Formats: sequence, structure tokens, C-alpha cells
Amino acid sequence: MSARGTLYGVGVGPGDPELMSLKAARILKSAPVIAYFARKGSVGNARRAVDGQLNPDAELVRLDYPFTTELPETDPCYRDALVAFYDASAATLAARLDAGRDVAVICAGDPFFYGSYAHLHERLAETHRCEVIPGITAMSGCWTRAAMPMTCGDEMLVVLSGTMDADALAERLATSEAAVIMKVGRNLAKIRQALMRSDKLDRAVYVERGTMPEERIVRLADKADDDAAYFAVVLVPGVRKPL
Ligand SMILES: C[S@@+](CC[C@H](N)C(=O)[O-])C[C@H]1O[C@@H](n2cnc3c(N)ncnc32)[C@H](O)[C@@H]1O
Repeated sequence: MSARGTLYGVGVGPGDPELMSLKAARILKSAPVIAYFARKGSVGNARRAVDGQLNPDAELVRLDYPFTTELPETDPCYRDALVAFYDASAATLAARLDAGRDVAVICAGDPFFYGSYAHLHERLAETHRCEVIPGITAMSGCWTRAAMPMTCGDEMLVVLSGTMDADALAERLATSEAAVIMKVGRNLAKIRQALMRSDKLDRAVYVERGTMPEERIVRLADKADDDAAYFAVVLVPGVRKPL
């Protein structure tokens, strides 16, 4: 029986292909199987970021999420469907690994930072060799493009999700100095309210598709509507004390 292949979780960064590590590029150029997550009807952001950089002979395995929008993980239907989806995805990849083929999973940003890859890793790491290649996170790409130092000295940074309920968001924002809010999408109105309640709207910056060709960066207070992309973050920098 052939030796099992290795599962690679490959962080490819926030979108600009040049923000990928040399190690990530090398693995994607040589892996015989390349898997990627995508929402139905979309190419998949991480997949698009590495267009033209993949092993041309690789088998591509597309893992289609069962939903097109993100719901709270507390929603039981959402949770059950996701568990079934990750079980099936892990089985699909395990079949390739068991046949002795390495599998690279393309991951937006860093695989272990809110990445779907973690759900595959949890299912396969006990039985298969897994290696994770870190990536530049979306928030790092976004605050760099916004030319915005985020934290300084002993300031604390909190990372929140737009899917949190309004009160929890406002409470966390009120007690933090700098903040990043991920998963913006249809949560922007709620995020705006929470920033107003915690007196931070003035400092908040909305970054959509940071480091990608369609990038958009605007002060949230100057954004007239609450239409927002899923691939967006709201950044609240700490208050810099000049040295
Ligand atoms: C499932 S998380 C993945 C995070 C990723 N693993 C990372 O390291 O940043 C998806 C969220 O990341 C953020 N995101 C990912 N890419 C982005 C980009 N290029 N610009 C702005 N936000 C992005 C959005 O908030 C999106 O809802």
C-alpha cells in the first residue's frame, strides 16, 4: 500500500497574489490535488487570488458551501448543514490522501484565523500528516492598504465578528482601544450602531476587498449606505499618543 499523502493548509494572503509566501507558492505549483472552498455561484476568493499559480496538472477539487450567506453558528440548521458539509469534504480529501496523493487546500489569509480549513484539520490531523503554511491575514492587508497604524505601546486590539448580536458588539467595542470587525456583509447597519453607541464611529474605516483590484476604502462615517461586501472589514485604530 502506498504511503499516505500530506494535507497542506496553504494560506495565500488577503488577495494580492504577491502577498503569498514563497513556501505557499512552491506547494501550489507542485501539489497533485488542489482543493478550495467556494460559495455557490462564485469562483472563490482564495482560488481567484492564485489564478495562474497552480500546478497545471493538478486535480482541482471544489468544495461548495451549503449556504451563500453566513448565519450565526448558534442557528441549529446552519450548524447541522455545516457539520455534514465538513464531514463530506474531509472524506473527499481523505480518499486522495489515502491513495498517496498530497492535497493542498487554498486558504484566504491565514488558515488558522477564522479559516474553514480548521474544520478539515480537526477531522484529519489525527489520522493524516498535516502541515499549515501561514498567510498574511485580511485585517493586516487591509490596515496596510488603509495606511493606518492600528496599535501602539500597550494598546489592546480586539477582533470581533459582525455576526455577533448588537449589544455584545457594543459592549466589546466600548472596552477596547483598537478593534477589527470581520464578516461585515449584511451586518453593517448593526456594526455602525454599535460603533455609535461606543463612541468610535469617527475613527472607523470600512475596507472592502482589501489588496484586490476592486478594493474600496472609506471612512465609515462618510459611507452613505449600509450596503457592504462579505469580504470587508471595519477597522478602528487605537488612539496614538505622539512620542
Ligand atoms: C472566514 S473569514 C477568513 C479570514 C482569513 N482566514 C484571514 O486570515 O483573514 C472571512 C472574512 O475575512 C475578511 N476578509 C477576507 N479577505 C478580505 C479582504 N481581501 N478584504 C477585506 N476583508 C477580507 C472578511 O471580513 C470576511 O468576512
